[in-house]
This record gives sequence, structure tokens and C-alpha cells, in this order.
Amino acid sequence: ALNRDRPQPLKGRRVLVTSGPTHEPIDPVRVLANRSSGRQGHALAAAAAAAGAEVTLVSGPVSIPDPAGVRVVKVESAREMQAAVDAALPADLAIFAAAVADWRVEADSAQKIKKGAGGPPTLTLVENPDILAGVARRAEGRPPLVVGFAAETENVIEHARSKLARKGCDLIVANDVSPDSGVMGGDRNTVALVSAEEVERWDAMSKQAVAEALVARFAALLGGTSA
Ligand code: CTP
Ligand code: CA
Repeated sequence: ALNRDRPQPLKGRRVLVTSGPTHEPIDPVRVLANRSSGRQGHALAAAAAAAGAEVTLVSGPVSIPDPAGVRVVKVESAREMQAAVDAALPADLAIFAAAVADWRVEADSAQKIKKGAGGPPTLTLVENPDILAGVARRAEGRPPLVVGFAAETENVIEHARSKLARKGCDLIVANDVSPDSGVMGGDRNTVALVSAEEVERWDAMSKQAVAEALVARFAALLGGTSA
């Protein structure tokens, strides 16, 4: 009844969305984090569900509500996110909107680290697995449409193109997240769709409008027909 009169271009499709930041533990009370709000990823999950898809949203720690009609799997760290993504496959469409921490602390402390005569601790970082690249490069069970995001503060298109090639995904949704763009934590987004063939720049829109337009595009790329 909810979507009675809406077109359902993703009906019968399985969609996986990652969203939010990841938190990488330093000790039991401290984490490495980033400023992702999860708004764009959550809006995509909601839009895909409204378009008739069966949606799994793998979300890092966010303060926004779970979208309606979506299966939500909550994770903290990048490695937990990767395991949840693997468990959620197969899918027809996988959208990687999460701001995954690039690094984690090599050996997080089992006890709270105390101040002391030794001075501040030195944190040794190691690189996290690239969740998107792992899925896009799968020999078996690769979703037919794999979409990444590229949040950049400069040379947006150039960086998006190199990410597309490096990660092996089909499409990159590139956006400018420099501090004066207002994107991080804000409600609006200005994106460009970057594929191997072309770059398409979209006007600034609400994150919900971006999500709905992206879902319509993904459905068309998958060959969905409006019911
Ligand atoms: N991504 C991912 N796993 C990671 C890092 C990134 O799945 N460990 C995904 C993001 O969800 C996004 C895309 O890869 O869809 C690009 O993320 P981004 O941080 O822009 O790219 P990086 O490869 O991490 O490069 P950098 O941060 O150095 O620009
Ligand atoms: Ca990164």
C-alpha cells in the first residue's frame, strides 16, 4: 500500500548499500572516525526500497534513523563492514556510499590507554581492506552493477576517473566535499556521474533528490522496466 501508485523499476532486484563512517578502535573507549553522516547512503537505500527493491543497508555508526522498508545491518569497523557486505551478497546492484576509514590501528589496546610519564602513545596504522574493490573484482558473484562514491576536496573528476579504473567498478558518483561545499553533514549534494565512457554533471539537489535520480538511473542501467 505504501508505494501503491509509484513506479517500481527495481521490483524483484536485490540491492546492497553501504553507508556512514566506520569507527576503528584505538582502545575500548576511543575510535578513529570521520565526519560522514550517512545521509546520502541512507537516502539511496530508502529510494531503492521505494522503487521496489529488496534492500540490505550495511551501516557504520550514524545518528540518523533507519530508513523504512530496508534490512539494516549495523557495524562499527571496516572489517566488520566487509564481512557484512560479503554476507549480504549476491545482489543485482551494490552501492558503496560508506566513508570507510582508510586505516585502522594495527593493535588496538584491550584496556583504556592511560596518560603517563611515557608521554602520548604512538598509534601505528595499517590500511583497511578496500571493500568496493573486493566486490568489483570478484571472479564469481560480482553484482552486475557496482557503484562507488568518490568524495574529494580537489580535482574531483580526475580522482574519480582513477578510482573507477583502480577499483574496477562500473560507475563512480563523484562529489566535492571541501569544507565550503557544505556537503559533509549537510542536506544538499552536487554530484557528477563518472563512467569509463563519460562524465555527467548534475545540478545541486537535496540528498533525497540525488538518491531518487540515481536509483532511476541504476534501474535503467539494469534494464528494469517501470511497472
Ligand atoms: N571504499 C571501500 N573500502 C575502503 C575505502 C573506500 O569500499 N576501504 C569505497 C567507498 O565506499 C567509495 C569508494 O571506495 O565508494 C571511494 O572511496 P574513497 O575514500 O574516495 O577512495 P579511496 O580509495 O579510499 O582513496 P582516498 O581516500 O585516498 O581518496
Ligand atoms: Ca578513503
